Amino acid sequence: PQVTFSDDNSRVSAVLPTGESVTVLLYGATVTSWTDATGAEKLWLSSAAHLDGTKAVRGGIPLVFPVFGTAPDHAQTGKLPQHGFARTSRWEFLGKSTSESAGGSGAADLTAKLDFGLSAAGLDEAARKLWPFAFNLIYSVNLNRESLTTSLVVTNDDDKAFDCQVLMHTYLRVKDISNVEVLGLESAEYVDKVDGAKTKTQAAAVTITGETDRVYTPAGEAVTVVEGGKKTYSVTRDNLSNVVVWNPWTDKAAGMGDFEPKDGYKNMLCIEPGSVSGWQSLEPGDAYEGAQTITYYS
Ligand code: BG6
Repeated sequence: PQVTFSDDNSRVSAVLPTGESVTVLLYGATVTSWTDATGAEKLWLSSAAHLDGTKAVRGGIPLVFPVFGTAPDHAQTGKLPQHGFARTSRWEFLGKSTSESAGGSGAADLTAKLDFGLSAAGLDEAARKLWPFAFNLIYSVNLNRESLTTSLVVTNDDDKAFDCQVLMHTYLRVKDISNVEVLGLESAEYVDKVDGAKTKTQAAAVTITGETDRVYTPAGEAVTVVEGGKKTYSVTRDNLSNVVVWNPWTDKAAGMGDFEPKDGYKNMLCIEPGSVSGWQSLEPGDAYEGAQTITYYS
């Protein structure tokens, strides 16, 4: 049994012999679907998401680069649109591969890997003007039976240094947000974007009872999502010091034209690993790599 790969001009997908699958849109290198062996979706995707390359995708895993939010006071990225240009650029599909994990004994241990690339030459003129650096991004999406790993390598191909931020804007699908607890952030500091960007310290497990938009800097690498007392996901960060927890709740969801159904905020929670509270400063020739691994438990 082998991995089934398919690609057309706009998206690439991989299906393991056991049924798990992942689909990546070339627009933004956005993961739009990740299913388990039964076909159940692990990611939330708005039914009104634009998948035709006209707008960043509302759902799945959009990629944020080179700025998180906007940074009007930062000279190099100050004019870029919210969350930068990676999520609104068309990426190149670089290739696919299959590997078997060490000690593995066949189909059950296969990993399918999809690689995507973006460099300055792939940007539209507007973006290239707003961020005039020579750079290279390689984004790898790895699927195995238990988890999805996405990793991004940023290389500075310029003769000047540049600053950047990186974030994987993962929309996890949950059954009912009112039963969700996020563990692993206890005692972490965070910036509360819905309360004047105040710095606070997380006291206990995170529950979502209203609009939530927080940039955490946790000590540990893993965050766990628990639903109704049962662990459903873990999200592990590699070389990414922040994790954003976001849920728009009723009013923000109502205000987003591409957020449907309007009560969809009950079925999603963004857990966004990133490096966003400072800047990665890359000297010419330097590279930076960060990754997330999302494991699900059924
Ligand atoms: C989160 C930000 O990462 O993304 C929020 O912390 C923001 O402030 C959210 O609202 C969605 O952003 P966008 O640009 O996709 O609507």
